[in-house]
Amino acid sequence: MEGNISFININKSFSGKRVLDSFNHQFELNKVHVILGKSGMGKSVLLKSLMGLIEIDDGEILINNKNLRSIKEDDKFNISYVFQFSALLNSLSVIENITLYLDEKNIGSKEERLIKANKILKDLGLEDSSEKIPSDLSGGMRKRAAIARSLMIEPQILLYDEPTAELDQINTKIISDIILDLKNEKKITQLVVTHDVAFAKSIADTLSILDDGKITLTTNKEGIEGLDHPLVNPLK
Ligand SMILES: Nc1ncnc2c1ncn2[C@@H]1O[C@H](COP(=O)(O)OP(=O)(O)OP(=O)(O)O)[C@@H](O)[C@H]1O
Ligand SMILES: [Mg+2]
Repeated sequence: MEGNISFININKSFSGKRVLDSFNHQFELNKVHVILGKSGMGKSVLLKSLMGLIEIDDGEILINNKNLRSIKEDDKFNISYVFQFSALLNSLSVIENITLYLDEKNIGSKEERLIKANKILKDLGLEDSSEKIPSDLSGGMRKRAAIARSLMIEPQILLYDEPTAELDQINTKIISDIILDLKNEKKITQLVVTHDVAFAKSIADTLSILDDGKITLTTNKEGIEGLDHPLVNPLK
């Protein structure tokens, strides 16, 4: 699918405090877009507004010039979200967590759901962990299980909030490889909020800075090294 996700004049306030302020930006589909920004600048609010987890006050979100709401309903267009703390249920096994949403919606047969979940777990190197409970997994495995769960609805767009926050370099590399595979093999558009500049550089087709409710700076992959911004190159 060609085209863009367009945020047009988005405003969002909480108790009178403006978080997204005439926010305008376009993210090209089938690419990996990284968003950096100081704490409290509205990065999570931005992702949640695209996910539909929070209502924007005004403005429009369009995908290929079609309103997000109508495209989701008409075209079976799916957006998925990988939560910062993975948000897996420890009362269920990994595979039960992963099939839960489709189980509850009764989408497909039980067997189809299990086949699909096992395939995704295998792709993410978790085939031996399906019967474990999430709290028995390492942080990196939990993050992969959260990604596996988000893939069950076959999203065209996948959003990540700080996917490497508690991970060491080896697990961070595994997550960047997964993100690049999902782009190259499944053509999934991915928006990634992170504080980790090395990780950002390893995955980004574009990198944008969110500051004071707006994107104040954006660059493609080639421009990242030369970017004159303290969040990216603190010594510059
Ligand atoms: N549901 C909410 N109710 C009230 N205020 C909120 C809500 N969600 C976010 N905010 C406020 O909006 C602002 C932006 O929050 P957000 O979580 O998007 O920041 P962030 O850029 O993701 O920060 P961090 O890097 O610390 O995760 C903050 O001032 C926050 O307190
Ligand atoms: Mg946040």
